[in-house]
Amino acid sequence: AELAIGIDIGGTKVAGGVVDATGHILTRARRSTPHRSTSPQVVEDTIVECVDELLAGVEGHRVVAVGVGAAGFVGADRGTVVFAPHLSWRNEPLRERLQARVAAPVTIDNDANAALWAEARFGAALGESHVVMITLGTGIGGALLVDGRINRGRHGIAGEFGHMQVVPAGLRCECGNRGCWEQYASGNALVREARDLIAADSPVISDLRARLGADDGALTGPFITEAAQAGDPTARELLADVGEWLGVGLANLASALDPGRFVVGGGVSAAGELLLAPARDAFRRQLPGRGYRPEAQIVLAQLGAEAGLIGAADLARTGG
Ligand code: BGC
Ligand code: NA
Ligand code: ZN
Repeated sequence: AELAIGIDIGGTKVAGGVVDATGHILTRARRSTPHRSTSPQVVEDTIVECVDELLAGVEGHRVVAVGVGAAGFVGADRGTVVFAPHLSWRNEPLRERLQARVAAPVTIDNDANAALWAEARFGAALGESHVVMITLGTGIGGALLVDGRINRGRHGIAGEFGHMQVVPAGLRCECGNRGCWEQYASGNALVREARDLIAADSPVISDLRARLGADDGALTGPFITEAAQAGDPTARELLADVGEWLGVGLANLASALDPGRFVVGGGVSAAGELLLAPARDAFRRQLPGRGYRPEAQIVLAQLGAEAGLIGAADLARTGG
């Protein structure tokens, strides 16, 4: 079978895998994403380490391509990371740099584009020609499928929905602006709100704080999701707030793009209906022309946290 390596570089972690032509992952590799204050060289080393580890795991098999899904603005050349809010890349010739160190042909795409491609080939976007993908992780990733093809815009960087302004003069974003959607509906937003409640010594946070114990570093998106699933009311409210912001943004995107389906993925989507039910409510309240127009479905991604690496591998293997 034709194998390809996919590497998904998010704001928090690097996830890699060897993927076959049916989207099945044979072996995996994982690292933490180097902090955005470290040099691009360190991120590059991390990627190459993952590739080498994966290649060693499938010795004797031919790997035909390496695809990278990067959390940033990938230029129309599909090789340069023009800008990345959560990483140190600024006009970084990533493909060239990696190609010099990796034997198989390397291709680069935006991480959310890669996730959408995986969902379109093997997951929740199957059978729908017009899809908007949203990934909720460190930031918000976005991608657009039109007539079955990823639409990358004139300069390669369409789909940066996370940086649409939803709150004038709102919270400062890593992109430099204020009030970006990803400041309100991402994993980072979830953790920030929980941290704020703790700092304010809010009476509603005591159960969550007891569950957390002394380790502040344990206050992560997955921790809040697990607490919510175990019935913690404050964790549920935090997820509902994020869900509401998600729904508002989706209504705006429906106005602009009129997809048949929204697919919601990324780490925070593990919360399932605790996130999607409030999102659907807010979406309906905000949707212009509601009651008179067809409404897009809002569904969860099926490939979970592995969509990005599966899509990156498949894009590299098939050319997208
Ligand atoms: C970046 C996107 C990326 C997303 C998810 C955003 O902050 O601008 O390029 O897709 O985070 O990683
Ligand atoms: Na994108
Ligand atoms: Zn921003």
